[in-house]
Amino acid sequence: MRFLVYWLSSAATWHPRVRGVLLCASAAVAGLLTQALVQACSDVMEPTGTDTHFPMVYGDRPTVAQLTDLGRRMFSDTGLSASGKLSCASCHDPKAAYGPPTRRLLQPGGLAMDRTGFRNTPSLRYLHSPVAFTEHFYEVEATGGKDDQGPTGGRTWDGRVNTGHDQALMPLMDANEMANPGKEAIAARLAKSAYANAFAEAVSPPGENIFDDPDSAVLWMTVAIETFEQSRADFHPFTSKFDSYLRDEVDLTPAEKRGMALFNDMKKGNCASCHPSTHKQAGVRFPAFTDLGHVALAVPRNKDLAANQDPEFFDLGLCGPLRTDLRDRPEYCGLFRTPTLRNVALRHHFFHNGALHSLRDVVEFYATRDTNPRKWYPMGADHQVQKYNDLPRQYWTNVNADIPFKPLPDGRARLNPREINDIVAFLGTLSDGFLPPKAASAPAPARPAARAGGACRRS
Ligand code: HEC
Ligand code: HEC
Repeated sequence: MRFLVYWLSSAATWHPRVRGVLLCASAAVAGLLTQALVQACSDVMEPTGTDTHFPMVYGDRPTVAQLTDLGRRMFSDTGLSASGKLSCASCHDPKAAYGPPTRRLLQPGGLAMDRTGFRNTPSLRYLHSPVAFTEHFYEVEATGGKDDQGPTGGRTWDGRVNTGHDQALMPLMDANEMANPGKEAIAARLAKSAYANAFAEAVSPPGENIFDDPDSAVLWMTVAIETFEQSRADFHPFTSKFDSYLRDEVDLTPAEKRGMALFNDMKKGNCASCHPSTHKQAGVRFPAFTDLGHVALAVPRNKDLAANQDPEFFDLGLCGPLRTDLRDRPEYCGLFRTPTLRNVALRHHFFHNGALHSLRDVVEFYATRDTNPRKWYPMGADHQVQKYNDLPRQYWTNVNADIPFKPLPDGRARLNPREINDIVAFLGTLSDGFLPPKAASAPAPARPAARAGGACRRS
């Protein structure tokens, strides 16, 4: 990648902070962000409006502001799809924290807008820099790098892609989504867009036109989308009531506080063991509510998915069918990446297959999956509950059975109905767009004081 080499080699001659920006930006674009780099970079990678020195691939361009602006326009451009009707924003609505725009379980796509996939659309917030997928994750801060936490990271429900620009190519080419047959088709659509000239001016090599080289045009296009996805105001604003609470601007209600305590309590909800509510790195206050670990929860089969009409079909996450490199690893069948719980209260369908449709049901599922399975799984012809009915029996040993699934010693569920309600109340504090009482009467600061917590916060 010529521009990456250029960035890295030119970085040496810049002021240290600028060099930091350059290295972070180029590493991010190339997908080379190690966890350490993410930590070091998260504060400087933001397009602040004053970053006139950023990235300078061809002299003074493209700037991060240019790329962000172009990426934003591409994100909602239906002209980039084969049907002319679908954009990224059709499924990832900015007004719904970049999650599904409607109550509809799956958004239709494809050439004739009549096809669907079989996975729930995730929110794209707080995923600006996930660790690359690894089978063996060692968390240095929490355990001194001793404990292997198993498969972690990557993008999508099965972590099968690592960088934002590689990811962006997937929906553009997916026959169920934007359905382009190849990069040339994408570049041709891009060349017809309202921003084609601005794009060419920003990213063409000196004396050349980017559209003469469709592969490079598409690479820059996906880099622009990736850069947009780093924009703090859009993708990680940290403006929830919980963030306000962390900034001492507002108190939580008694129910929300009880819910938070249950969420954290290792003997009750134990939710924070996978959806951390504090940042593991000292001095960083704003957690992402996911450790990106891949775990099997045995969520019920969703009979409303077209793919599930075939009784032989199973979405097994890490071991396929969408992910193919771990196909021969039965110990990974049924594992899906832990999602962030930020903005979860805005969603209508939950889990990778959208099998549950209320947040209260999700929390109750954790408490009673194993104490009252008939509530969650259908009855078979043999009058037995078809437990774990979306996972073939040979993979049941993969299913997580720790707290909160593990019943109390007397056999009761870990959480009673009132405690479940309290956790749901707490989850409601994680939605962005909360205006603290002070800010509601006085003009809100342009950029909330999120930086006060320290330089870095991992996604
Ligand atoms: C038809 C609906 C649809 C469209 C259009 C669509 N997406 Fe998605 N997106 C999804 C679904 C479903 C997933 C989950 C895929 C999976 O896990 O295999 C997803 C996953 C993602 C992820 C990974 C999120 C994570 O949790 O790691 C990113 C990033 C993303 N999409 C960005 C985009 C961009 C950029 C575009 C436009 C170029 C786009 N999407 C277009 C439905 C859509
Ligand atoms: C052992 C790790 C683990 C624990 C403990 C855990 N979760 Fe999860 N959580 C996951 C994984 C993995 C998923 C996705 C599973 C899937 O889709 O198959 C998930 C999904 C969710 C979702 C759905 C989010 C969405 O966007 O669809 C919610 C809500 C949730 N968890 C809340 C909780 C709460 C509340 C608790 C505590 C009572 C909890 N989790 C405990 C790992 C965990």
